[in-house]
Amino acid sequence: METMRAVGIRSRTNPDEQVYVSLARPRPGDGDVLVHVHAAALTPTEFSWPGTWKTQAGADRPFPVIPGHEFSGVVAALGAHVSDLAIGDAVYGFNDWDQQGAQAEYCLARPQQLAPLPQTLDFAQAAEAPISALTAWQALFDHAHLEVGQNVLIHGATGGVGAFAVQLARWRGAHVIGTASTPNVGYAHDLGASQVIDYTTTRFDEVVHDMDVVLDTVGGATLTQSWEVLKPEGVIISIVTPISPEQAAAHNRRGIFFVVEPKREQLIEIGRLFDGGELRPLVAAIYPLDQAREAYARARAGHLRGKVVLQIVG
Ligand SMILES: NC(=O)c1ccc[n+]([C@@H]2O[C@H](COP(=O)([O-])OP(=O)(O)OC[C@H]3O[C@@H](n4cnc5c(N)ncnc54)[C@H](OP(=O)(O)O)[C@@H]3O)[C@@H](O)[C@H]2O)c1
Repeated sequence: METMRAVGIRSRTNPDEQVYVSLARPRPGDGDVLVHVHAAALTPTEFSWPGTWKTQAGADRPFPVIPGHEFSGVVAALGAHVSDLAIGDAVYGFNDWDQQGAQAEYCLARPQQLAPLPQTLDFAQAAEAPISALTAWQALFDHAHLEVGQNVLIHGATGGVGAFAVQLARWRGAHVIGTASTPNVGYAHDLGASQVIDYTTTRFDEVVHDMDVVLDTVGGATLTQSWEVLKPEGVIISIVTPISPEQAAAHNRRGIFFVVEPKREQLIEIGRLFDGGELRPLVAAIYPLDQAREAYARARAGHLRGKVVLQIVG
């Protein structure tokens, strides 16, 4: 049996106790791609998501669970009926929440979850982009239908999702206002925000109004206070807190919560923007695979510029 090194989680009650394990290397089934993972990013909040612990049918997933669903690497093997990828292709992408993740030497994905590695990015830079950049893309373009000249408020403008959202909204030609903490105000301007509100000193709802779109990456009071800054026809997109139709109706505004989906065509577009210099990659820190605990501690400490990445090859 061929084995591989991986980060494993053996306890739902204490997912921070990642262990370093040796597991059987997965074999690609019908329609699967086996990726030799070169780098994989960390999303510590995934430990609160149902798919980490349960299958879609509701059964408990067996331990050890391998976390981390966004990655970059090289195609190592193809299952039957995969025709549009070849062994040796460099790719980036993200795989299903309720399958084994990518913090391992190998992972499985489906072709529509993968796109060519952007030519200007290294593996670590590409690994941190799929979830954050796709979430920002889908929020602004699929759900909010952001248009040239519209006003958009992006909460958490220098976080993993927010930093891509600021860059994408600016690229679309929108007027971008962001919220960030004091040390990150200048950085949010650098990313493309015309106005940045320091959320530690100023209430945004006292200085912002008439927004076409609010992107909430924070939740809680930030979401609650956002309704009043929208135009009557404006929309809030939250990626943190589900919004009921009753809540939106009570404010006489539209509100949408969604969960990001892997979409190859969008990853290809995002790759073009990286290669054209419209998007910049955002790696906060890089750790080797066997220092996953330290990497998770760093990611949980927060206030990062970009995401923490595990480098598996190189
Ligand atoms: N629904 C989905 O599909 C989806 C997809 C991806 C992520 N998410 C969720 O979205 C959330 C954000 O993810 P992320 O990767 O962007 O996290 P992150 O990198 O930790 O960023 C969070 C950002 O929020 C900022 N922040 C904290 N408190 C704030 C406040 N009161 N007002 C304004 N900004 C504040 C932080 O700014 P400072 O560092 O300056 O303090 C930081 O930039 C997480 O809960 C994640 O689970 C959901």
